[in-house]
Amino acid sequence: MSTFSSPTTHTPLNTPFLQKLSSHKKRTHSLPCACRKVTCNKDNDVEQLQLNQNTRNKSTPLSLDRRNVLIGLGGLYGATFTLGGGAVNTLAEPILPDVTACTLTDAQWDGSAGDHCCPPKFPEDRIKDFSFEDYPNPVTRVRRPAHLAMLDAEWLADYKKATALMKSLPMTDPRSFMQQARVHCAYCDGAYPVLNHPDQRLVVHGSWLFAPFHRWYLYFFERILGKLIDKPGFALPYWNWDHPDGMRIPEMFKDIDSPLYDPNRSTEHQNTVIDLSFNFKTPRDFDSEDEQIQQNLLLMRKQMLYPTKPTVFFGSPYRSGDEVDPSTGSGPGALELSPHNNIHMWTGNETIYSHQDMGSFWSAGRDSIFYCHHANVDRMWTVWRNDLPGRSRLDINDPDYLNAYFLFYDENANPVRVYVKDSFDTEKLGYKYDQQDLPWLFKTPPRPAKGTVTDTIVTFPKQLDSVIKTKVMRPKKSRTKEEKEEQEEVLFIDFEFGMSQQPIKFDVYVNDDYDHKPEEKTQVKPQFAGSFTSLTHRGGSMVAKAVKGIAGSLLGGSNKVKKGVLKLAITKLLEDIGASEDEAIQVTIVPKIGTETVVIKNVSIEFVS
Ligand code: C2O
Repeated sequence: MSTFSSPTTHTPLNTPFLQKLSSHKKRTHSLPCACRKVTCNKDNDVEQLQLNQNTRNKSTPLSLDRRNVLIGLGGLYGATFTLGGGAVNTLAEPILPDVTACTLTDAQWDGSAGDHCCPPKFPEDRIKDFSFEDYPNPVTRVRRPAHLAMLDAEWLADYKKATALMKSLPMTDPRSFMQQARVHCAYCDGAYPVLNHPDQRLVVHGSWLFAPFHRWYLYFFERILGKLIDKPGFALPYWNWDHPDGMRIPEMFKDIDSPLYDPNRSTEHQNTVIDLSFNFKTPRDFDSEDEQIQQNLLLMRKQMLYPTKPTVFFGSPYRSGDEVDPSTGSGPGALELSPHNNIHMWTGNETIYSHQDMGSFWSAGRDSIFYCHHANVDRMWTVWRNDLPGRSRLDINDPDYLNAYFLFYDENANPVRVYVKDSFDTEKLGYKYDQQDLPWLFKTPPRPAKGTVTDTIVTFPKQLDSVIKTKVMRPKKSRTKEEKEEQEEVLFIDFEFGMSQQPIKFDVYVNDDYDHKPEEKTQVKPQFAGSFTSLTHRGGSMVAKAVKGIAGSLLGGSNKVKKGVLKLAITKLLEDIGASEDEAIQVTIVPKIGTETVVIKNVSIEFVS
């Protein structure tokens, strides 16, 4: 299972140059469309290489030569890192946290009762690199769906007992529940600077770091629970929100006398079917719960089956020196956008500041349900990787990804440094997911009547204050099966946004004649391509004033315009709607919430390898 994709080399451009080009940073140069694809002509090649040369020289002087060397050297690479504060490693290109310099984050100014995000300082002399030998698994931990696991009375008693013990540990213990919650806050809200880039903050959302960070985070959280009750086989439950039987808050979290209970949850969703496309403004319910369930299944099918290339599913590259906005990152993947973000919003308390606990990343780890939610996100990684029909789906094999690391405290409160490259094989990590049906998998919607593609081509930038409909030319109409296997056709929506503390959500449809209204509920139908969703985030100006330099750089300064990108895989979508032979498509962008300051910069189609 830990097979990596071998770097594809079908064109001379598919080199690290091209990988670089697909990161948002390079994309902001608004290249002419033809030059952002792999099939550039000769002149464009030259232009593209020059462009890369320029940007490369600016940010990563060693990138090309070093990378080629490192690909050959493999394992040696990881061994050369030192922790921040030690020798400076000028070769560092993976993004790494400088845990010696945990600082305040925005969480400090709000309803967090003066708490901050910094877990106990990592004692540098005790940090060890993770090895599988040091973390043996006498029993494989089997994660079960919450609604079924709770029927096992012994397991449920263990889960409650372990959680109660974790909550009763003193704050000086890094394994205590609040300290564990801080770990999420620290990594997710930019408490650590990027190693060797002191004015940039590391954030694990919105990029390819999302999946491996959360896998490691749960790995230690689960081991700590097991240790506290002296049951190394103890496994977390997963919130089976992709199955009709799991589409509500699992019962065990609702008992107010249980340590699993959190008062900071939505007041309206205690007993309703979840809306996997949830945003705050639109009506919360369909006519029937069954309709909501069908919508959820259709959404799951799209999010899981459409993206077949890893950076579209997991998220965009994020490397040392890349400056990203904490609320959008370098480009979140399908796994993170929906329904992950929507479930956070749906579960948090909509009536209180920043929708605590689940509705904001800084507070999300304070609710036990977080770990149950993320177990299913993690399971979706394994399902996407191993269980889906059709085209092969691989993990990312870029050395800057493989060699990125995080620090955690383990079940014995020892600090440990873990690498992304060790996160791929869950059974090697000592856990697996029990087999459950995937009812969304064969939920094929009927092919809709062919939509009309109007000739309106919108000129961007354009403010997203009303529905935008624009015609977009495809780089190539009609592709062979092999071409589709090789490259995913991806709709890119580049946008900017200004100061806003609101969540942001907008929906995208292809060739849809329907006259969408922002206030209507998202319609997951064949023409629906996906949504951009981000959680509540903090405005920068007030925070920047409070702690000048630090938060100023975290939030990108008070007035700075932030950039985001939404990538939607459309190869299969176009097949579903009978448009794969057309030369153009019509894209509809529907603002949903928090889009007052969103400006769409560009809408284009590119091929992604
Ligand atoms: Cu780090 Cu679901 O969030």
